[in-house]
Amino acid sequence: MDIQMQLAALRAEAETALDGVASAIELADLKAKYLGKKGPFAEFMTQMKVLPNEEKPRFGALVNESKNAVNALFEARREAIEAAEVAAKLAGEAVDVTLPGRTIRSGARHLLTRTVDEIEDLFIGMGYTVKEGPEIEQDLYNFEMLNLPKAHPARDMQDSFYISEELLLRTHTSPVQVRTLLEAGGNKPVKIICPGKVYRRDDDDMTHSHQFLQIEALVVDKDVTLADLKGTLLVLARKMFGEDRQIRLRPSFFPFTEPSVEVDVTCHKCNGKGCPMCKGTGWIEILGAGMVNNAVLEATGYDAKVYQGFALGMGVERIAILKHGIDDIRHFYTNDLRFNRQFR
Ligand code: DAH
Repeated sequence: MDIQMQLAALRAEAETALDGVASAIELADLKAKYLGKKGPFAEFMTQMKVLPNEEKPRFGALVNESKNAVNALFEARREAIEAAEVAAKLAGEAVDVTLPGRTIRSGARHLLTRTVDEIEDLFIGMGYTVKEGPEIEQDLYNFEMLNLPKAHPARDMQDSFYISEELLLRTHTSPVQVRTLLEAGGNKPVKIICPGKVYRRDDDDMTHSHQFLQIEALVVDKDVTLADLKGTLLVLARKMFGEDRQIRLRPSFFPFTEPSVEVDVTCHKCNGKGCPMCKGTGWIEILGAGMVNNAVLEATGYDAKVYQGFALGMGVERIAILKHGIDDIRHFYTNDLRFNRQFR
């Protein structure tokens, strides 16, 4: 076959092969096949060697011309493939600037944590130290040394989860009073608050939870009177429920205090006029308190003729419920974000 026809056929074949090439890698392979050292053009140049000298220039020129043309086809194809690859990459990275942004939701402290912090801050500001005690407590500290001996009927006020004869989940934060007084050794003033979880064998409902939070306060010193307790309670009530609040003390009973009081605060909803929040009375009960019973002081090594003290204990959920008008204690523990978000 005439060299020109052979070259034309080769070029046509290369062109068809190029049409099927989609990637730079395939293109490189194909280029090696046609234009490489072992390719057909190199082969023609080998053939040229055996031609008579006068035919060599024409033959060589034809082969070169054809080779350059095929090379140009490869170049064009390479550019097209590269352009397509860039276009595909850009399309993949395209940002739709009209889309709404993604909100990053941040967490926030739980209402109960915030209530504890608020009360802690108040007491720390009055010189109190924060003390913690174990949630698994000895009967000795939870009851016995708080003037609640084994057969005492007042133990029924706090239905307990016992772990053994002597161990239970603490039913209140009052055992931290005992632990702190014992540590102090009977001759040092004590001024502490104790926040923490407590447990009672109650069936959970709108107003009861088998686990809840209390904050206890205890002051023991040489000249502590009921007036000190009253002043402290007024500061607390006003901090939590507003500066216009008044308080009143009603006689009550706790084995670890004598006298014992129940503390009411004027209703912050109706300002004492009477409303559903205060059940029409104008007053809301917020906590229990009293002067530390001599029996507790003596049991922990204090001379009750020299030292006196006051104590108070409040339910944190109850304070938060009253303050924010919450209708069900279970909201605190079910982690429904619609509830939690209301108190950011
Ligand atoms: N511990 C009591 C309770 O859980 C609350 C209490 C009442 C604590 C009077 C006190 C107090 O420190 O003085 O029911």
